[in-house]
Amino acid sequence: CNVIGCQLCWLIRLARCSRDRSWCISTQYRWQSTAAAAVKKPAVGASPQIRESRKPKTGILMLNMGGPEKLEDVHDFLFRLFMDRDLMTLPVQNKLAPFIAKRRTPKIQEQYSKIGGGSPIRMWTTLQGEGMVKLLDEMSPETDEAPHKFYIGFRYVHPLTEEAIEEMEKDGVERAVAFTQYPQYSCSTTAVDGYQIFDYQQIAQKILYPATCTVDRLWQSTPSLSQCFAEHIKKELDAFPAEKRDDVVILFSAHSLPMSVVNRGDPYPQEVGATVQRVMERLKHCNPYRLVWQSKVGPMPWLGPQTDDTIKGLCQRGKKNIMLVPIAFTSDHIETLHELDIEYSQVLGEECGVENIRRAESLNGNPLFFKALADLVYTHLKSKEPCSRQLTLRCPMCVNPVCGQAKAFFANQKP
Ligand code: FES
Repeated sequence: CNVIGCQLCWLIRLARCSRDRSWCISTQYRWQSTAAAAVKKPAVGASPQIRESRKPKTGILMLNMGGPEKLEDVHDFLFRLFMDRDLMTLPVQNKLAPFIAKRRTPKIQEQYSKIGGGSPIRMWTTLQGEGMVKLLDEMSPETDEAPHKFYIGFRYVHPLTEEAIEEMEKDGVERAVAFTQYPQYSCSTTAVDGYQIFDYQQIAQKILYPATCTVDRLWQSTPSLSQCFAEHIKKELDAFPAEKRDDVVILFSAHSLPMSVVNRGDPYPQEVGATVQRVMERLKHCNPYRLVWQSKVGPMPWLGPQTDDTIKGLCQRGKKNIMLVPIAFTSDHIETLHELDIEYSQVLGEECGVENIRRAESLNGNPLFFKALADLVYTHLKSKEPCSRQLTLRCPMCVNPVCGQAKAFFANQKP
């Protein structure tokens, strides 16, 4: 993967440098490793949130890794990433992480400068949160739930998760929903965000809210989510020349994982596959398709086939009309805007002699996606379950005791 700014690639690459290659966590340093210690915080409340005149009752914390909004944010973003022992363990991490962050900053700034000078993830998440809570207030105006308010909690950039939690405390929300913004669950993404909340509560030595629950998967929010993907694919198909449309191969592209993670029993590949099936059923299997995986790094085995290899292979076999569909992201960021659009569609596409290669729009600002978010939170709150049954199960080959503690914590919440 040439996307140097890709968070997952970074941690894989660096984890490989470590004598301890597992992604397991040393509990001794868990809190020290979080972003809070890294960089001076802005005043709480500086984030663009909806300001309700009424006191919010239900707070929905939208969790994600985040991305640098401006080029000058790149260093701090990388610093937090490399310091994050929840994601990777490095030898002499306190020294190595700052060194690597500083060294890589110019290269990554260059990558971001090519996609408009920063990540649009906060802008899109804000728009999505606004759409979601508006719908939730309409769907569920009961006085024990409304008004709803969204909070953004990023792991590596402001607004950081701990800042969002502080704001929720300040607002006095009565019920908190931790809502991970990864469409499909992986212990490398969803679970790590969960650890952060778990850490915070462990450190604070208190339960923050009388009621806390977790939405840990987006792909199950049917029918709105699959409908949204299908709409974007149909729109993009229409942009191909009419005589080529039937020949278009749809490539659903998701971030890959090392096979060592997959073989531990991580459910991510199965959940991404299930998402693809739902979307293709909605499209009535209009075109041939494959699920492919992007952003591999290094020589170790990763889940494949790789997106770039697939584009090359299809072209060699005469299939030169291709549509890329980002199926495991909720909005545009560097993996779509740089890796898919520039590296694969422009550079590789030209090398391979594609006739037409297009990318379906990310979920971004589609109101159907707001509906998908609202539907999922609504259904979850009505279920009175603390989290999905799936969340409670550790990977069969998991060797990280913190996974068990965090899962037990979420499963024992009283929604
Ligand atoms: S690695 Fe999946 S539960 Fe621990």
